Amino acid sequence: MTNDAAPDADRRVFIKSFGCQMNVYDSQRMADVAAKEGYSEASCVEDADLIVLNTCHIRERASEKIYSELGKIRQLKEERASAGRATTVVVAGCVAQAEGGEILRRQPAVDLVLGPQNYHRLPQLLRQRRSGGAVDTEFPLEDKFDHLPVSTPQAIRARGVTAFVTVQEGCDKFCSFCVVPYTRGGEVSRPAAQVLAEIGRLADAGVAEVTLLGQNVNAYHGRGADGRSLSLADLIGEAAKIPGVRRLRYATSHPLDMGDDLIAAHRDNPILAPYLHLPIQSGSDRILAAMNRRHTARDYLDLVARVRRARPDIALSSDFIVGFPGESDADFEATLALAREVGFASSYAFKYSPRPGTPAAQDDRQIDEATKVARLAELFALLEEQRLSFNRRLVGRRFDVVFEKPGRRSGQVIGRSPYMQSVYAEGDHSLIGAMAEVEIVGVGPNSLIGRLVARASREVSLMA
Ligand code: SAH
Ligand code: SF4
Ligand code: F3S
Repeated sequence: MTNDAAPDADRRVFIKSFGCQMNVYDSQRMADVAAKEGYSEASCVEDADLIVLNTCHIRERASEKIYSELGKIRQLKEERASAGRATTVVVAGCVAQAEGGEILRRQPAVDLVLGPQNYHRLPQLLRQRRSGGAVDTEFPLEDKFDHLPVSTPQAIRARGVTAFVTVQEGCDKFCSFCVVPYTRGGEVSRPAAQVLAEIGRLADAGVAEVTLLGQNVNAYHGRGADGRSLSLADLIGEAAKIPGVRRLRYATSHPLDMGDDLIAAHRDNPILAPYLHLPIQSGSDRILAAMNRRHTARDYLDLVARVRRARPDIALSSDFIVGFPGESDADFEATLALAREVGFASSYAFKYSPRPGTPAAQDDRQIDEATKVARLAELFALLEEQRLSFNRRLVGRRFDVVFEKPGRRSGQVIGRSPYMQSVYAEGDHSLIGAMAEVEIVGVGPNSLIGRLVARASREVSLMA
């Protein structure tokens, strides 16, 4: 560090997250690391002595966005330097892992490139910082979760009443289009006791709803207290017993890892939300095989039927890729047909983006941009119609909502339905963090309108 650095007591960090929920979680853990090093959170990037971009490499556009961000940060760094303030710039996340030292070459304003498995080494790396920048993208032998500081109750409270907890990281599936196995490494599950202790700390600080995260979360197989391996369903069963936990969710699941016990948990465990994000990517068996998804459209439909038998009202959601190399009109029609057959509550759809180092990027049957655009628009229109129709069917229904924050208008609170939609209701801010029963009285374009019926029975009995 140079002598124009801010005094220790006044150092600030700004962390910007791109990509998936796992990056959001990692950013919070990096904020915990920085807090332990004496950094408070800056409200804007201009005020930060330490800037961390937690990046995503999944599609080309996501990756390129980082370089335009870095261009702006370079300018900021120069302006701050002429005002006598040093700025440290860190690129973390999946672009860091994938591109390593190339980032320093493209943008010399970067001081440190840090892969997702090395966040616990941030303090040490900041201290040893040399001119010319440093790169740490080795997969370390030690587990970062054993070395990351725990979140303080104040930090948890500042983040709100819903929280993410990564339980599994990495991926062994190697879908032919995807960079994740390269950027996040092989599948690793955190030990159950470590995860449950973290959920306990969150609940003690007022968190009511927890989403368990993993690139393939339903492949979770964490070590239990007695050395036995726990499945995701086992883990959910244990987490549901933690006082204060009102609702549990998990994401993202792979169809091949959807075990009977997890399906049964949707029937038997009232704390588990009736929502399942289960990406299919394509409805064509030919394309599914080329994607190395290792199941057919029929396997997926059978699985959906089993899940719906266990929990008939479950909201299903998927990811789709259009324009995968070699995708014909008939293949695309099969995707539309599958979506029609399932009837999704919500979905994401993407144009295929060739990624460096993945087998599909080498395929010489790439689809032209105009076809991708047209297919995306057609699929999106269908998925949008399905989403609105799912939402309309919720009118008149009553269910519990965990309220998260004040609404845009005063006297309003916002939460999420068990099925994942935002729900607005008239109610005072004491409802935030509470679970309350609402009746759905209307639907907006992106949310449901609810009327408060009662605080949930558990809450009432606590207050009595
Ligand atoms: N593990 C999850 C998905 C992680 S990536 C799963 O297996 O389903 C999130 C989504 O990004 C994927 O489901 C896929 O739809 C999309 N995606 C991944 N690579 C892509 C690429 N090269 N081009 C376009 N979309 C991609
Ligand atoms: Fe990527 Fe496939 Fe792994 Fe999902 S399962 S992260 S799409 S390789
Ligand atoms: Fe992106 Fe990495 Fe997540 S590539 S989607 S941030 S695992």
